[in-house]
Amino acid sequence: MEEKAIVVQNLVKQYPKVRAVDDVSFSVDKGEIFGLLGPNGAGKTTTIRTLLTLIPPTSGETLIYNVNTAKNSEEVRRMCGYVPQDVSADGDLTAYENVLISAKLYGMPPKERKQRIQEVLNFLELTDREHDMVNTFSGGMMRRLEIAQALVNRPKVLFLDEPSIGLDPNARRIIWGLIKKLRDEFNTTIMMTTHDMGEADVLCDRIGIMNRGKLATLGKPEGLKAAVGGDIITINSNNPNCSLKLKELGYSAITDSADGNFDLIVNNGETLIPHLLEGLKAKGVVVESVSLKKPTLDDVFLKYTGARIEEGDTFAETRRARQSFTRRS
Ligand SMILES: Nc1ncnc2c1ncn2[C@@H]1O[C@H](COP(=O)(O)OP(=O)(O)OP(=O)(O)O)[C@@H](O)[C@H]1O
Ligand SMILES: [Mg+2]
Repeated sequence: MEEKAIVVQNLVKQYPKVRAVDDVSFSVDKGEIFGLLGPNGAGKTTTIRTLLTLIPPTSGETLIYNVNTAKNSEEVRRMCGYVPQDVSADGDLTAYENVLISAKLYGMPPKERKQRIQEVLNFLELTDREHDMVNTFSGGMMRRLEIAQALVNRPKVLFLDEPSIGLDPNARRIIWGLIKKLRDEFNTTIMMTTHDMGEADVLCDRIGIMNRGKLATLGKPEGLKAAVGGDIITINSNNPNCSLKLKELGYSAITDSADGNFDLIVNNGETLIPHLLEGLKAKGVVVESVSLKKPTLDDVFLKYTGARIEEGDTFAETRRARQSFTRRS
């Protein structure tokens, strides 16, 4: 069997009051971009921190390139880079100095440092700002710098916790391009978490969705979307009986919101809509609007976690921290 970049085998992490990770198993191939998704508190960061040797598992095991992370932490750390969710760059130093600190922490010999730092700043397109103080950087530049810090040691496996958190669409797309380039040019294995389903869809080869410590589903984005089954028709009506009348016609809404939107999962949405509208009209229900869409990763997330993804507290807090960081200058 081909050696895997990452193996998680029956991982359990029990805290006094909560089972943060509850018997989770999966593996990630070399050069794969793998997304770990899930609502707040699902166990994503706990899984990543176990892989990074930062916390010991209660039971089960995790391996990086066949090396057990609980037994041989030094070897594992040499192979891994980590870009945490929270701000990790120092605003009162230059970009170069920030990466230099990382190089020293990794124990890189002084002779190699300068060239490696310049290489990595060049890769992240920061060369022209290398001697500027980081507190003058935009959010996107700062995130790129943090990725540079994690890459200076040329890790085989890179862990990215919310790579584009709090960034505008343009800065986000630049980061996406760089993550893909990293995989394509160096075959780096990347494991990331994100609250952004669009980001997961664009970047990830495979996705695992965690919920309450369990792995709820695992697969390629296309496969997961197809497995939601069929098309989604959203009907908007002010008629309070709409849900009831839909039921009489043989359809049940998966959501009916206060603003009068009713979502139905159906097959052959295109051919069904005219019949549905005629049926509702015959029952005296006026439909304001109707739309048809193919399932997205948002719908996959809803199916497996029972909720649409929201900007939870962690997300809002991190974004605030990032914004006040760049304003400080
Ligand atoms: N050191 C700890 N001590 C006790 N409980 C913890 C500890 N770390 C995490 N937990 C709990 O374990 C559960 C999983 O937390 P974890 O941080 O792994 O979730 P997450 O999926 O990363 O969530 P988020 O999207 O908010 O980052 C939560 O209920 C959390 O409160
Ligand atoms: Mg987390």
